Amino acid sequence: MKISSKKIIPLFILSLLGSGSGEKDPDESDLVFFAGYPISFENQKNCTAAFIANKQGIGFITSAQCCVKNNCNFFPNQSADNVYAIEDDGNVTLIGAVYDMMFGNNGLDYVFVTSILIDWDNIPYTTGLTSDNDTISELYPITSYLTLNETGHKVCTYGAKNGYLCGLLQAINVEITVPNPWNGSLTNLSVNEVYFFGEKEFENEDIGGPVYIQIDNNGTTIAQALGHITQTGHRHFYYTPIEKVLSAGIIELTTSQQDNATDVTEVKTLEWNDTLNIMDSKNKVGRPNYIYAGSRIYVQISNTQSSFSCTAGFPVIKPNGIKGILTAGHCVYKNNDPDVYTIVDGKLEDIGDATKVAVGDRDGNEYAFIELHTWIWGDPTACAVKPDRNGILQFVPITSLYTPKLGERVCGFGSFNGYICGKIVAVDVTAEFTRSEGLPNYVAKSLYKVDTGKKGFGEGDSGGPIFTSEGL
Ligand SMILES: *[C@@H]1O[C@H](CO)[C@@H](O)[C@H](O)[C@H]1NC(C)=O
Ligand SMILES: *[C@@H]1O[C@H](CO)[C@@H](O)[C@H](O)[C@H]1NC(C)=O
Ligand SMILES: *[C@@H]1O[C@H](CO)[C@@H](O)[C@H](O)[C@H]1NC(C)=O
Ligand SMILES: *[C@@H]1O[C@H](CO)[C@@H](O)[C@H](O)[C@H]1NC(C)=O
Ligand SMILES: *[C@@H]1O[C@H](CO)[C@@H](O)[C@H](O)[C@H]1NC(C)=O
Ligand SMILES: *[C@@H]1O[C@H](CO)[C@@H](O)[C@H](O)[C@H]1NC(C)=O
Ligand SMILES: *[C@@H]1O[C@H](CO)[C@@H](O)[C@H](O)[C@H]1NC(C)=O
Ligand SMILES: *[C@@H]1O[C@H](CO)[C@@H](O)[C@H](O)[C@H]1NC(C)=O
Ligand SMILES: *[C@@H]1O[C@H](CO)[C@@H](O)[C@H](O)[C@H]1NC(C)=O
Ligand SMILES: *[C@@H]1O[C@H](CO)[C@@H](O)[C@H](O)[C@H]1NC(C)=O
Repeated sequence: MKISSKKIIPLFILSLLGSGSGEKDPDESDLVFFAGYPISFENQKNCTAAFIANKQGIGFITSAQCCVKNNCNFFPNQSADNVYAIEDDGNVTLIGAVYDMMFGNNGLDYVFVTSILIDWDNIPYTTGLTSDNDTISELYPITSYLTLNETGHKVCTYGAKNGYLCGLLQAINVEITVPNPWNGSLTNLSVNEVYFFGEKEFENEDIGGPVYIQIDNNGTTIAQALGHITQTGHRHFYYTPIEKVLSAGIIELTTSQQDNATDVTEVKTLEWNDTLNIMDSKNKVGRPNYIYAGSRIYVQISNTQSSFSCTAGFPVIKPNGIKGILTAGHCVYKNNDPDVYTIVDGKLEDIGDATKVAVGDRDGNEYAFIELHTWIWGDPTACAVKPDRNGILQFVPITSLYTPKLGERVCGFGSFNGYICGKIVAVDVTAEFTRSEGLPNYVAKSLYKVDTGKKGFGEGDSGGPIFTSEGL
């Protein structure tokens, strides 16, 4: 599973830049190691490597069931299991040895293998979709790890024997009983369960394989680590959640730095022309002292005491470091209406100025950037608002930018009509919108059209955030 594909090189350079390891000629070192790589313990048991990580040195995580010697010989002070990479000609190369492990304690199943890499580079990528069984065609950068607290998420994995597959998270924190690989004594492990469809079956060689969530980041796939495979079965597998491994083992996940998406002009807001009048909203918002994506804002109309009500979009930081929030361009009546207010503890507070406004400019942009006077009332971590099962509004962390596809389900929050979801029925739409009080119509481009069914957003919801159920 050595990769020499030219496709990998741009990713490889990116990872070198990201890890700050300086100048390197990627052609010189096509020996790269990443999550999904086939490995062998003691040249006797074949497994799959999970994520690249650091515990007083670079290495990777996999399952303790890969160990050959009793407990990988980690506890007594004889030599711990040696670990080899299996190359595609079947040759093996010694790449490291077990440095830390747990099997059964805290319900965990992991080993940390310290790499002794000479000509090899560990890159924080995972194997993804593979077009044939010998050549890796996709590697996804690992940008972070994620704790999933709800079932139903689509998760993907890669096993060295049986390749790539995706399934649905079925159960969280379930206890399974697994025979200890050294003497068969039954051990309880705490894992998450994933179901999948199709003919593929995972086998023992796939154990340890990386489990992750895939995100389409404007056409580039990135991944967030979830854990590694601990047990396989018919159309399902169990994985050990990575956050437990990292905290129990004092291990740090190695991630790939992505360019910060901060250019405000790239952000397009979503608008509707039809104003369905459904006011069933739950305007009970938990944290009155905060401006968050979804909070009500008031934009002063020039030289009058009146203002437009709108909804704040996502908090953003411009490349020059200035912090603010986005909203819809047409929330700002005229370009000389800078003042923006929100209600803090029942009083209108001046929170910032609209410093950049586009209402259907030449490029079809439709947004306003509100520069905040103070960050005190702004939430530095982007959150969206979403009701939980009991209808109580909760803050959902926004983890990254995401470009959804036609047919995908997205949700939004407007400060008047609350939380509404729908399916994307058209992308890249150009539409003309009318404005009140004799202002000219404007044309916005690159919009997404979302069919929200009977519920709809209305006046005052403009500017509100749109996100996926995964918090993207
Ligand atoms: C480990 O090594 C130390 C000293 O090298 C020795 O005193 C101790 O008995 C050894 N422990 C085991 C379990 O072999
Ligand atoms: C491990 O994989 C190598 C290379 O595919 C193979 O030659 C070897 O027989 C495998 N070992 C076991 C125990 O399956
Ligand atoms: C192992 O790799 C070396 C160098 O690439 C090669 O010469 C040798 O034939 C390989 N051995 C096997 C068993 O494939
Ligand atoms: C990959 O391997 C599987 C099982 O060995 C085989 O059924 C399938 O045809 C192979 N796929 C390709 C693209 O070679
Ligand atoms: C899941 O729960 C943990 C612990 O309560 C929390 O730290 C984490 O942020 C939650 N993750 C998500 C995606 O909600
Ligand atoms: C099996 O091995 C485990 C770990 O080394 C040990 O804790 C357990 O006591 C052993 N069980 C038996 C029945 O020998
Ligand atoms: C494993 O879990 C079962 C059921 O929860 C329990 O009865 C058993 O004592 C546990 N075994 C160990 C070794 O903790
Ligand atoms: C998204 O991709 C398009 C086409 O590759 C590019 O022009 C645009 O700048 C990207 N936007 C962001 C926010 O990265
Ligand atoms: C991204 O933003 C963080 C925090 O502001 C900064 O430390 C980092 O250097 C930025 N990365 C790039 C590639 O600009
Ligand atoms: C928007 O609404 C106005 C007034 O109802 C209508 O004249 C116009 O055609 C609509 N535009 C679109 C794109 O639906």
